[in-house]
Amino acid sequence: MKKEFKPGTMLNPVPTVMVTCGTMGGEHNIITIAWTGIVNSEPPMTYVSVRKSRFSHGMIEKSGEFVINLPSEDMTFAMDYCGVKSGCDVDKFVAQGLTPVPGSHVACPMIKEAPVNLECVVKDVREYPSHDMFVAEIVGVHVDEKYLDEKGKLDFGRMNLICYNHGFYYGLQSKPLGRFGYSVMKPKTKKRIAGENRRRPKSAKK
Ligand SMILES: Cc1cc2nc3c(=O)[nH]c(=O)nc-3n(C[C@H](O)[C@H](O)[C@H](O)COP(=O)(O)O)c2cc1C
Repeated sequence: MKKEFKPGTMLNPVPTVMVTCGTMGGEHNIITIAWTGIVNSEPPMTYVSVRKSRFSHGMIEKSGEFVINLPSEDMTFAMDYCGVKSGCDVDKFVAQGLTPVPGSHVACPMIKEAPVNLECVVKDVREYPSHDMFVAEIVGVHVDEKYLDEKGKLDFGRMNLICYNHGFYYGLQSKPLGRFGYSVMKPKTKKRIAGENRRRPKSAKK
C-alpha cells in the first residue's frame, strides 16, 4: 500500500549547488540552490529557480549572468551557510573563507574551492508564482586539474559532490551502482571496460 500525499515538490534527491553572481571587483554574492538542472544539450543549457525575495535575484536579473559552483563534501557547511544567510547582511565569501576567482566568459566570480564551475549567461526568464526560473546557456566549464587523469579524462567519482535529499545533505560515498547503459551493455564492451579499470592507477579508483 502507498499513502497518497497532497501535490508537492517531492522530487528527491536533487543537486545542491552554490551559485555566484555580481562582479569580481564590485558587489558579489553566493546563494545555495537546489532547484537547478539541465534543459538542453546543444547548446548546453541549465536553469536556476530563485525567489524574487533573494538578494541574489536582483543581481542575476540585472547582469544576466551567474556561475554554478559544484561543492564537494568538505564544503557542506559553507554551502548550508550560503543557503540560510543573506548577502544583504554578510559577505559570504569572507564569512566562509572562500576564494573568488575570475571566470573567462562572465563577470561573476567563481568559487576557487569548488571542483567544478559552470559559467552561465541568462537567455530567458520564466516567472512562476513563487520562483523565477533563469534559463541560461553554459558558456564555460572549469574543472580542477586534480580530477583529470593523464589522458585528460574527468573523474567525477573522486570529487565527493553533494546531493540534497528531503532536508538532509548526502555524499555520494557509495560505489557506483552501475554505469550509463549497463543494462543493455554488450559483453565485448563490458570486457573492454573491465580491462580499462584494471589498468587505472589505484589512486584513481574509488
Ligand atoms: C539546500 C538549500 C537549497 C536551496 N535552494 C534554493 C532554491 O533553489 N531557490 C531559492 O530561491 N532559494 C533556495 N534556497 C534558499 C537560499 O539559498 C537562501 O534564502 C539564501 O539565504 C539566499 O541568499 P541571498 O539573499 O544572499 O540571495 C536554498 C537553501 C538551501 C539551504
